[in-house]
Amino acid sequence: MSHSFHHDVLVVGSGAAGLSLALRLAPHARVALLSKGPLQEGATLYAQGGISVVLDREDSIASHIADTLATGAGLCDERVVEYCVSRARECIQWLIDLGVPFTRSPAGDPTPYHLTREGGHSHRRVIHAADATGRAVEKTLEQLVREHSNIEIFEHHLAIDLVTGAKLGLDRPDCLGAYVLDLHAGEVKVFSAAHTVLATGGAGKVYLYTSNPDVATGDGIAMAWRAGCRVANMEFIQFHPTCLYHPRAKSFLISEAVRGEGGRLLLPDGTPFMERFDPRAELAPRDIVARAIDHEMKRLGAECVYLDISHKPADFIRKHFPNIHRRCLEFGFDMTREPLPVVPAAHYLCGGVVTDLRGRTDLPGLYAIGETAWTGLHGANRMASNSLLECLVFAAAAAADIQERLPRCGRPPAIPPWDESQVTDSDEEVVVSHNWDELRRFMWDYVGIVRTDKRLQRAWRRTLLLKQEIEEYYGNFRITGDLIELRNLVLVAELIIRSAMERRESRGLHYTLDHPAPDGGTPPRNTILAPSTGPRGAARRLAAGRAD
Ligand code: FAD
Ligand code: SIN
Repeated sequence: MSHSFHHDVLVVGSGAAGLSLALRLAPHARVALLSKGPLQEGATLYAQGGISVVLDREDSIASHIADTLATGAGLCDERVVEYCVSRARECIQWLIDLGVPFTRSPAGDPTPYHLTREGGHSHRRVIHAADATGRAVEKTLEQLVREHSNIEIFEHHLAIDLVTGAKLGLDRPDCLGAYVLDLHAGEVKVFSAAHTVLATGGAGKVYLYTSNPDVATGDGIAMAWRAGCRVANMEFIQFHPTCLYHPRAKSFLISEAVRGEGGRLLLPDGTPFMERFDPRAELAPRDIVARAIDHEMKRLGAECVYLDISHKPADFIRKHFPNIHRRCLEFGFDMTREPLPVVPAAHYLCGGVVTDLRGRTDLPGLYAIGETAWTGLHGANRMASNSLLECLVFAAAAAADIQERLPRCGRPPAIPPWDESQVTDSDEEVVVSHNWDELRRFMWDYVGIVRTDKRLQRAWRRTLLLKQEIEEYYGNFRITGDLIELRNLVLVAELIIRSAMERRESRGLHYTLDHPAPDGGTPPRNTILAPSTGPRGAARRLAAGRAD
């Protein structure tokens, strides 16, 4: 028996982006909220440093805009930066009103909330909840979502693919919903909705070493691409400079706020080195710091560098970084007394599904928000703590757009059930994990912090081979969660490599030894890829440039 559901809005993903959108729309619409794991699991839960917002009297919106543009290395869309930055205060106030427990300033301080500093910011501008800001945001929103009678929650439900009018052979191009695998029941369900929102987060799992949780497999980007949407700037993968170097730590993040509060980066012999690379030293933008560490590790043949904040009073460290301090102790490192061994790891995807100022994609009825989307905010390098901000601002914008359209939307046509009549159970499921390991390893080796034409070509050849094998597997065998994620990851890898090959210059997070300088001859350009069989609307918009 097949299960089908109908809602006004289908939200795929329950991080900061998906939860905020669901909460904003719930008073006006019936919302289905999907999460492929437990509701709270996603990058948001692990966010540490905070959310950037101008609250300090000495600071200004103009300064936040200028810092974001400078960090983005010439590729931020100024209009989007201004839009996002100028809505930060409102969004933070929304979170405060909902009960997010941001850290307060000591009594007598002119700003009520403590603001920390991170790379690229010329002011203290990052509001936070100690060193576990994401947890505070996620848990607060999660509780409210669970209490709302208009939001129906589907945990352990993994969206496989979007359903479009074009795919059903109808004379309408829009998105009609999605096929979804119930991971516990092992059955595919049909979700239909006049509005579908992809809030599926990033794709860090395409790399061997990443700060991201296991759910970060680029599903939203892959689904949108298969449905005919454009993606942009996929070459700009941000590597966080400081993840704990320990075999069991799974690249546990040591927040940039540690450097913001005075932490120094040291070579194995204890020498500071960041001044040699940038006058802003430890607080230079992330691309510069990660590349400097990579350079020094390779030069010295070192396995890691060190991050030292032990010169600060132990009480200060424990108060500001209680979770990082506790977690490091579990691995045998006491940051109040000794430097921490750190290495860079894949952290954030600046590219994604092309969207406009309301979160709309190329496909009518389909929105993308949060890390899955490319709005133009981050350019070639995201400034620290601008990501949660983007989730909040664009969730609000997309919710407003959907709310406006709700009265005009009818029920979409019926979607046929998922057809498994032609497939059998796999005879060799281990192939999936072998392919997954292979992909993540060569992406790390060939498409990492420092690239070359030759390395990219190597990765390209391997990706095409893997993609072919995985598609055959997908076509012949009954699907599993792992297979769907692998299919998405290999597509995302292909898009990353293709975009990297198209950028024949070094800019922001894309650094290649074959073209080590920015291309000064032409104005900076975004790398926009369009699926060859895109919907007619997408082709029209592509010709007309980005719509808003
Ligand atoms: P996520 O929070 O990643 O949520 C994605 C959701 O989509 C999950 O619920 C997942 O289950 C679901 N999902 C995915 N695919 C499917 C599918 N096929 N079907 C159903 N559900 C699906 N940014 C900042 O601004 N400040 C910080 O301090 C900060 N610290 C960070 C620390 C760490 C360790 C990491 C990893 C990132 C950090 N970032 C930070 C980045 C920021 O946390 C993320 O960019 C942001 O949380 C992304 O939110 P999101 O809602 O887009 O996605
Ligand atoms: C951190 O706390 O260092 C992460 C901040 C971010 O990714 O914006």
